[in-house]
Amino acid sequence: MTVPRFTAAKGQQRKLSVITAYDYLWAGLYDEAGIDAILVGDSLGMVVQGRSTTLPVTLEQMIYHGEMVARAVKNALVIVDLPFMTYQVSPAQAVENAGRVLKETGAAAVKLEGGVHQAATIRALAEADIPVMAHVGMRPQSVRKLGGMSRVQRDEAGLMADSKAAEEAGAFGIVLELIPRGLAGKITAALSIPTIGIGAGPDCDGQVLVSCDMLGLSGFQPRFLKKYADLRSTVIEATKQYIHEVGNQTFPDQSHSHE
Ligand code: KIV
Repeated sequence: MTVPRFTAAKGQQRKLSVITAYDYLWAGLYDEAGIDAILVGDSLGMVVQGRSTTLPVTLEQMIYHGEMVARAVKNALVIVDLPFMTYQVSPAQAVENAGRVLKETGAAAVKLEGGVHQAATIRALAEADIPVMAHVGMRPQSVRKLGGMSRVQRDEAGLMADSKAAEEAGAFGIVLELIPRGLAGKITAALSIPTIGIGAGPDCDGQVLVSCDMLGLSGFQPRFLKKYADLRSTVIEATKQYIHEVGNQTFPDQSHSHE
């Protein structure tokens, strides 16, 4: 998958599948399964680091995780989030930091949060040949302003303006997070770049889910989430069984021992 192919999928009416990953092991599995794109999300601050928001995540941490993911991936497009305050200061700051991400991870693209207010930055990145995906609707880096991360965003005019501004500035795709289905459909119809929804209904050009949630590893259960596995129970049950067998000396047995 390349950036031009990702964007072209919209014209071919082919829905795009995107998932988050944070390390070599899991990224390799999603790639082998045939996922179109892997997002190294700054959600790693919450699902990997155990923090309550994404705000503390640093550029160095994104590069560390992005490099592991990109090394595992043979086919999928790898996109790395620019974390909080690594692009908001100025377009020059964004180009310098996004340039580091591409050089040091091997990823193909970056993602940032915002539309109208980030248009100059998106343009600067696109002009530096750094493919950039935008992210509008519920923006986790704006949690302090929004007052939380679970409220559906309904400002139709504002969200349409954000989406169009991102497209006009040169974004190759856009994440729509937690917005009503009808509005996501209207934005999707109004843009020529793919919309990738999370909590935005089925009318987007593709979908993204946080891998730990999709696999049932986290306890997170918002309305928009479908769990495709219950790995949390699988891991806990397997670990309990291991503890039990070590305790009662049924593991290891002769078949696991060397002569
Ligand atoms: O950080 C992340 O995982 C994201 C997705 C939720 C789109 O931005």
